[in-house]
Amino acid sequence: MNNPFGNEPTTYSQLAEALNISKDSYHKKTLQKDMDSHSQIKDAHFFSSRIKYFINTKKNIKILDCGCGLGFIARGLKKYKNFEVFLSEPSESIKKIIENVYPEDNFLPFSIEDLPKKFHNFFDVIYLREVYPFTRTSDIDLQDRLIKAISRHLKEDGVLIFEQIKNEKDLFCNLKELNLDYKIFYLMPTKWLNFEWFYKIYFKVHFLSIFIRLIYKVFNKKINHFIVIKK
Ligand SMILES: C[S@@+](CC[C@H](N)C(=O)[O-])C[C@H]1O[C@@H](n2cnc3c(N)ncnc32)[C@H](O)[C@@H]1O
Repeated sequence: MNNPFGNEPTTYSQLAEALNISKDSYHKKTLQKDMDSHSQIKDAHFFSSRIKYFINTKKNIKILDCGCGLGFIARGLKKYKNFEVFLSEPSESIKKIIENVYPEDNFLPFSIEDLPKKFHNFFDVIYLREVYPFTRTSDIDLQDRLIKAISRHLKEDGVLIFEQIKNEKDLFCNLKELNLDYKIFYLMPTKWLNFEWFYKIYFKVHFLSIFIRLIYKVFNKKINHFIVIKK
């Protein structure tokens, strides 16, 4: 029981066990089938480039990948010069992996509620990709508490960006009632048209995302979204 909101994903413990043998075993294990079922590994670069295109700023910003899992998405973001990237995650196995294999990461080994006070009003963007269980429940009090807790770490003009698939019971159901200043963007499958020029148009022209939503409906597939919440 490492994660205060449930058991840590099994793949994290398996990867930490591989690291007990050697770094080489850990790296080999990351390549095994389904090792990325809880945290993105081989497709992480698609997610990091899309979030970069979405944020679309030349300003220097501080970004936190909260509930970062293995941290591959955050490490992908580090290649953008104007991004100062931080990662946070409560799992003990991830702490061991990141501290040993990726010691250069700005890693914060905390859950949302335990992030240190010195990071209050600190981040321009906090990104949370599929940070469940709290985003996949109908528990509005829990969501209210955690969104308030995480928002304290945003600068006045900062934003939270949740990336997630719509589930039966989840944060989407409570957005209005939580009384948040939010906007939803529909996303294409990560591997499609992953180009800056395309996303520059796509995120601006609302009509295109309505069209994509329709395609998902026709094929009866779950659509992925960004939920952007202003502080
Ligand atoms: C499905 S994984 C996603 C990992 C990563 N964001 C990605 O997309 O590759 C969900 C992650 O959220 C983390 N998590 C769950 N509840 C959390 C909380 N209250 N605070 C911080 N992280 C949390 C879990 O430990 C887990 O690593």
